[in-house]
Amino acid sequence: MNKAEKIILLSFLLQGFRCREFSISLPEKIKALSGSCVIIKFTFEIEEKYEKNLTESSTGCWHKDGTEPEKIVFNSSMSSQNSIIKGNITGILHKKDCTTVVYDVRSNYSGTYYFRIESEGGLKWTYTKKHVQIEVIESPPKPTVKLIEEQDVLEGSSVSLRCSAESLCSSPPPTLTWSSTPRIPLSEIRQQELISDLNFTATHRHHRVTFTCTITYQLQDKNKTAQDNITLHVQYAPKISPSSSCNGSNVTVCFCEVDGNPSPELEWRLSGRPVTNSSNTFISEERLNSTGLRSSITLHQSLTHTSTLECVGNNTHGNATKRLQLPLSVNREFQFYVNLSSLMIGVAVGAVLVIMFCAVRCICVRLSTRQNVQNEAADTYASLQLSAPPSEYETLNIKRVDTQ
Ligand SMILES: *[C@@H]1O[C@H](CO)[C@@H](O)[C@H](O)[C@H]1NC(C)=O
Ligand SMILES: *[C@@H]1O[C@H](CO)[C@@H](O)[C@H](O)[C@H]1NC(C)=O
Ligand SMILES: *[C@@H]1O[C@H](CO)[C@@H](O)[C@H](O)[C@H]1NC(C)=O
Ligand SMILES: *[C@@H]1O[C@H](CO)[C@@H](O)[C@H](O)[C@H]1NC(C)=O
Ligand SMILES: *[C@@H]1O[C@H](CO)[C@@H](O)[C@H](O)[C@H]1NC(C)=O
Ligand SMILES: *[C@@H]1O[C@H](CO)[C@@H](O)[C@H](O)[C@H]1NC(C)=O
Repeated sequence: MNKAEKIILLSFLLQGFRCREFSISLPEKIKALSGSCVIIKFTFEIEEKYEKNLTESSTGCWHKDGTEPEKIVFNSSMSSQNSIIKGNITGILHKKDCTTVVYDVRSNYSGTYYFRIESEGGLKWTYTKKHVQIEVIESPPKPTVKLIEEQDVLEGSSVSLRCSAESLCSSPPPTLTWSSTPRIPLSEIRQQELISDLNFTATHRHHRVTFTCTITYQLQDKNKTAQDNITLHVQYAPKISPSSSCNGSNVTVCFCEVDGNPSPELEWRLSGRPVTNSSNTFISEERLNSTGLRSSITLHQSLTHTSTLECVGNNTHGNATKRLQLPLSVNREFQFYVNLSSLMIGVAVGAVLVIMFCAVRCICVRLSTRQNVQNEAADTYASLQLSAPPSEYETLNIKRVDTQ
């Protein structure tokens, strides 16, 4: 004999020896939403001698807040108009399942209910030892929202939010919906029976976003809702605001805004070197909120047009750098013009020098030319005197004679 066969035999023997009595298995307490329905699921047992009397025409009754006959509020053989509570036995009575659905639950349906069975042949029994407590509530129970894995949410990691709710009798059944403030697109929602998972990849945009899960019961005249929410805290590396910039004329004032979680630190770098608070450079910082930091730097020192200014933000998750466009301040313009004018003066001086040089040279050349001519003339005369051929000399002499 195997294990299953032993169990069958054992239960058969117990069945045979057990003296069947009146007994009932009822839930202790059931919550019902006002305006909705309630299902009481249960089974009962009767004395063996009445077994043959239990038929489809048997009657199931409910007593409320007492077992006296006048406390009967529901009788399955009566029309719903004559019953104090509107309901229907959906279980199969002669199979000892008397599951009851109560419709259109009112606030005064709250109370203690006792079951009674009646049938032809003298079967009349109220189960006084056990009862069910019905608690009518005006608003649905709150759903519960939580992170599936409780952990620090880092930017780029996947997040799963789970909304779970107790489901009360309702037609149509209640639904769970997600929303967020501020509103962001919500994707990857997987809904099971009153469990809804919201899965997504965390970005800094999800930081301090409140996710709300709403359970909605559609009742005849109105919808009843209940909500729970969770605010997400996402850790992310800083980000520098694109509005960070500089302005100024005599002094340059720049500001930089960084955002990160945990809140970042901010450093200024002038031409690559960290800048500290001094009389030349005044730095002030201001925390904007739990994640933001705004810093401004005032530069009194003269900057050259090759100077660069960077804002560096960092926290435990990383860093960000932004190079700020330095304004062309008066100082710098002045410096530029000074440079330009010295260049021009240089050029001018050079030009003057060249001109003077040329002029001097020209004069020198001219002077030396004139002297040469004189010298040449003297030489010629001398040569005439010295080197004149004898014939000419004779001629000259002759002429000289003539002129005398
Ligand atoms: C009661 O339940 C039976 C069986 O499910 C169904 O046929 C009948 O229409 C129900 N009555 C009401 C009033 O809902
Ligand atoms: C609920 O109250 C209404 C009127 O106030 C009454 O007619 C009805 O019988 C009460 N129902 C129950 C179950 O007590
Ligand atoms: C959502 O995340 C949970 C937990 O990580 C996982 O069990 C589930 O399958 C995910 N659902 C979808 C649609 O990715
Ligand atoms: C109840 O909610 C459903 C679904 O959201 C909607 O279609 C319906 O109009 C709502 N009914 C009332 C009475 O607000
Ligand atoms: C810089 O110094 C001034 C005056 O001493 C002070 O108010 C300011 O907070 C300092 N800034 C920083 C970033 O320490
Ligand atoms: C900034 O991050 C880079 C890598 O992302 C790292 O190499 C560098 O040292 C960091 N700088 C600071 C100031 O933290």
